[in-house]
Amino acid sequence: MVSFYDSFMYLFEKRFLRKARRSILTKASGSVLEIGGGTGLNLKQYHFDVIDSLVITDIDIDKRLIKRVQKHDSINKIKINKTSVEDLPFPNASFDTVIFTLVFCTVKDVNQGLQEIKRVLKDDGKLLFIEHIHPKKKSLRTIFNWINPVWRKISSGCNLNRDIRSSLVENGFQIGEYQYLTKQIFVGGCAKK
Ligand SMILES: C[S@@+](CC[C@H](N)C(=O)[O-])C[C@H]1O[C@@H](n2cnc3c(N)ncnc32)[C@H](O)[C@@H]1O
Repeated sequence: MVSFYDSFMYLFEKRFLRKARRSILTKASGSVLEIGGGTGLNLKQYHFDVIDSLVITDIDIDKRLIKRVQKHDSINKIKINKTSVEDLPFPNASFDTVIFTLVFCTVKDVNQGLQEIKRVLKDDGKLLFIEHIHPKKKSLRTIFNWINPVWRKISSGCNLNRDIRSSLVENGFQIGEYQYLTKQIFVGGCAKK
């Protein structure tokens, strides 16, 4: 079923997120792990000529993700795994690329999730991300704080006042590229261990 949240996000998707996914996900290569794959919107943007394998994880596997994988030309390279980022069932240093898009706004234990990503990422691996963040502008920050409790309820746990950049740095990642996809809210980038 399409929720209010899905309809709302569709507008952002059409306006600029699709383009951002394309530009960031083109950098994924080798053995790839996607965290919180949702309905599988990233699938179209991967370049399977440079990807050996893709594991898409989520705590809740959406039927639309399964359908998209089943119809995909590179189905042989793709696996779906129902698991939480806070407890990844993969050996240390097993992925060349880890990706998450619009996931850490919802993850319950951000630090544990990022530590798990760090553990499964190879030493020379790359982390690619797109997230929405707490805006810089003071008035917007206050509004976001104010509506956050209601938003969290209608969006199944999404928080409007997180800051992925600080969380990555606090968890020992080095930020490479970091760009604002909109003036205040959406960011995308690349980090290393
Ligand atoms: C807003 S959706 C984004 C989906 C997709 N990445 C995208 O860009 O369209 C957030 C997704 O993160 C998943 N998620 C939330 N907490 C998670 C966790 N702790 N571990 C793994 N996935 C999680 C949710 O189930 C949901 O599918």
